[in-house]
Amino acid sequence: MRAFKAYLIDQDESRKTGGMLTSVTQDRLDEGEVLIRVHYSSINYKDALAATGVGKIIRRFPCIGGIDLSGEVVESADPRFAAGDKVIATSFDIGVAHHGGYAEYARVPAGWVVPLPTGLDLLEAMALGTAGFTAALGVVRMEDNGLAPANGPVVVTGATGGVGGLAVDMLSRLGYHVVALTGKASETDYLIGLGAKEVLLRGDIDFTKVRPLEGARWAGAVDNVGGQILHWVLATMKQAGTVASIGNAASFNINTTVFPFILRGVSLLGIDSGYMGFPTRQRVWDRLASDLKPRHLAAVTRVIDFDALPGAFSAFIEGNVKGRTVVRIGA
Ligand SMILES: NC(=O)c1ccc[n+]([C@@H]2O[C@H](COP(=O)([O-])OP(=O)(O)OC[C@H]3O[C@@H](n4cnc5c(N)ncnc54)[C@H](OP(=O)(O)O)[C@@H]3O)[C@@H](O)[C@H]2O)c1
Repeated sequence: MRAFKAYLIDQDESRKTGGMLTSVTQDRLDEGEVLIRVHYSSINYKDALAATGVGKIIRRFPCIGGIDLSGEVVESADPRFAAGDKVIATSFDIGVAHHGGYAEYARVPAGWVVPLPTGLDLLEAMALGTAGFTAALGVVRMEDNGLAPANGPVVVTGATGGVGGLAVDMLSRLGYHVVALTGKASETDYLIGLGAKEVLLRGDIDFTKVRPLEGARWAGAVDNVGGQILHWVLATMKQAGTVASIGNAASFNINTTVFPFILRGVSLLGIDSGYMGFPTRQRVWDRLASDLKPRHLAAVTRVIDFDALPGAFSAFIEGNVKGRTVVRIGA
């Protein structure tokens, strides 16, 4: 029986959640048609919430963490995949209710697996991971709703985060005038380097005094933070503007008015990367490998070894990370 290294998250008798590197045998993996030798995984904010128990993310204990993985197919009971194929698997129940990417092997349903598109390698796929997929899904959904560079500027909130930085890069590559909103004045040069044309500092805006409609500024918006900032985003949208609501880094509440919707025709699009099925999933990955591929992907990515994983989560909880973190599992 094959035994391999995995980061297993469990609860103790007092229901305290924690994870550890351990050895598991292949028979403990969940059901699925595709067995994958994992090369890389990544750390998203959600992974840190899951591993530390700060967020109630895990729905089935014990669970190998890691919501993202890329690797090579070892065996497949589904004709869409064959041994040796390079693949990506993110989202669905991976790493939350089905053993995930923090293991040298993963077994997942074929319907969750995407063939690695030409134009990406397995490391780049995880530099993107759920963060990149979500940012790209937001861009694609806004474009489908009519957004184009000629319509006007696009604002990205939570801009130094994983999703935010990749969104800034993708939108700027597409020719948008990107305005980055950040809480970190020290990261202005970083954001300009990613392609932002302007950087706004959270501290310079009083989000508690936002009227139902303010001066119209944005044709599009990628919002990673929610709360009062999303209210401000909505109030400052141009006529027929489009907002992609992605995250809740500040708050899951939104206290706003209907005026942006009924007086400016603003669209608020909900982005859920977790259960976005095919063919959109494949279409988004294909674009991530071509016209949406961030120009600064390597520069915003750090790679850590599997053994460093347990010590890496706290920085995410404390908000002290920038860009993307890839975990080298078996490459
Ligand atoms: N809908 C989906 O399918 C989906 C998928 C992936 C992620 N998400 C969500 O999207 C959000 C961003 O994810 P991520 O992986 O990019 O997280 P991240 O790397 O931790 O980045 C979040 C960023 O938000 C800003 N921020 C943090 N705390 C804030 C606060 N109190 N007020 C205002 N801004 C704050 C910070 O950027 P600045 O300092 O630059 O402002 C931070 O870097 C999270 O809420 C995550 O749960 C949703």
